Amino acid sequence: MQRTNARIWPSAAPGDTVRFRPSDVFAAGEANHHISNTAYPIAHRETFWPYRIERERHKEVVAAAFADLDAICLYSHIPFCESRCFFCEYTVVGKKEIGSTEIYMRALDEETRLYAEFLGSRKIRGFDIGGGTPSYPRAEFIENHIETVNRYFTILPECEISIETTPKIAAQEMEKMKAYFKMGVRRISMGVQVTQPDLLKVLGRETNGVEHHFRARDHIRAAGFQKFNIDVMYGFAGQSLAAWQATLEHAIRLGPEYITLYRMRYKLTRISHQAHAVNIEQVREQAKLAKEILASAGYIANPGKNTYSRVAQDTGTSAYLTRRVIEGAPYLGLGLGAQTFTDTTISYNSGAVGKNMAPYLRDIEKRMLPLQDLYHLPREHMMAKMVAVSFYFGEVNLAAFRQKFGADFEVVYADAVRFALTEGFMEYTASQNGTNLALEHKSISLTERGAKYFNGVIALFFAPSVQNYLIRKTPKREAIAV
Ligand SMILES: C[S@@+](CC[C@H](N)C(=O)[O-])C[C@H]1O[C@@H](n2cnc3c(N)ncnc32)[C@H](O)[C@@H]1O
Ligand code: SF4
Repeated sequence: MQRTNARIWPSAAPGDTVRFRPSDVFAAGEANHHISNTAYPIAHRETFWPYRIERERHKEVVAAAFADLDAICLYSHIPFCESRCFFCEYTVVGKKEIGSTEIYMRALDEETRLYAEFLGSRKIRGFDIGGGTPSYPRAEFIENHIETVNRYFTILPECEISIETTPKIAAQEMEKMKAYFKMGVRRISMGVQVTQPDLLKVLGRETNGVEHHFRARDHIRAAGFQKFNIDVMYGFAGQSLAAWQATLEHAIRLGPEYITLYRMRYKLTRISHQAHAVNIEQVREQAKLAKEILASAGYIANPGKNTYSRVAQDTGTSAYLTRRVIEGAPYLGLGLGAQTFTDTTISYNSGAVGKNMAPYLRDIEKRMLPLQDLYHLPREHMMAKMVAVSFYFGEVNLAAFRQKFGADFEVVYADAVRFALTEGFMEYTASQNGTNLALEHKSISLTERGAKYFNGVIALFFAPSVQNYLIRKTPKREAIAV
């Protein structure tokens, strides 16, 4: 066992005590670029399994994990969508359960109460309502949920609540947008994804086409939102550079404060078979073009960061995500399949695998914590998770890392950091995305060159078992020319 203050990490399993050469790990990350990304871990059945906690011990381990966490972030998952887009990787229920919004939202409030009773009240520093499509259920359910959170926890003034919507809902239901603002939500994110009609069709997203976008924007603005984000996606098979450029220019015309680029992750989606048709060169060209077009319109992001902001000193992400990325802040995930992250554990709520509500509702009815998988992890994995998430912004805040783990990033990852610095993939910078923390503002950040080789560089910080998985999956002849 290793310990910092009240944090206790179990010893690493044998698979996490080995070490690999950084150059081999880098090559494996590049060769497996479709999976070597911020969605840590990979192959959890193999890599996290030694640390899985049996159900009888869930309460004890969760209580210990939250014991010294006075302030946390909160994520509430709303798993409903009009229909499931073929590219979507999230926990969304099928048609059969789409009418059960009231039952679900009641269970979500019940889960909130269960945690509050179990853990005691906590301060909430960031709160995202995500999905799925959280604007699918009636607005009053969201209002009730925010009230429930406020009743049992203390939502701090700096906690800016953020919600997600689709163009169709924002265009057709102006009252909902107004209601969100009135109930205290201050940031809203809308998925444009792509604008090319034939690609929208192939992706099962044709009901959210451009005909809704300007009206949606007008409703969001009329409601009072000054923090408006648009998601766009690249890395699709059959998405030409010209089509991508048109999507970016369209997003800019909508005038949001922020534009977030999502590179398509194929794992576990309905179109996973298309991954082979997308090569890394296409993805790199698209990322490069996006950076140029967005910069010329005043949207800025440092290398590797996917949320572009046209507001100075504003990361463009929600308080919840910013704290997760910069500080590695612990968060409680509520709802179907939601993920929870403390300093020592990662867990996934019931429903994460089957994507249906029954097991989750059953647990709540029995007044049990609705956990499907709970892992009490060694530092190797908790550090890897924090660093993988910090790559959302392309930088690791050194003070935040030290504060969390009681050790220096450059010491823990000595070989990897030396390799990344020598190869010009990373460099020391002043922190580029602060959270107004009393943190020293020094980071190790991706360079432009490092951002180009993002998938290889991020793998340098994965735990050995995950690196081993990537190395094993890499054909021997796959030499990476850098
Ligand atoms: C939880 S979704 C919510 C947005 C909202 N339901 C919508 O579709 O407009 C958040 C974002 O994740 C992105 N996304 C969904 N599936 C993805 C995948 N397989 N790989 C990468 N990004 C994905 C999309 O850009 C989407 O807007
Ligand atoms: S992309 Fe959005 S609307 Fe489409 S299935 Fe996923 S969460 Fe639902």
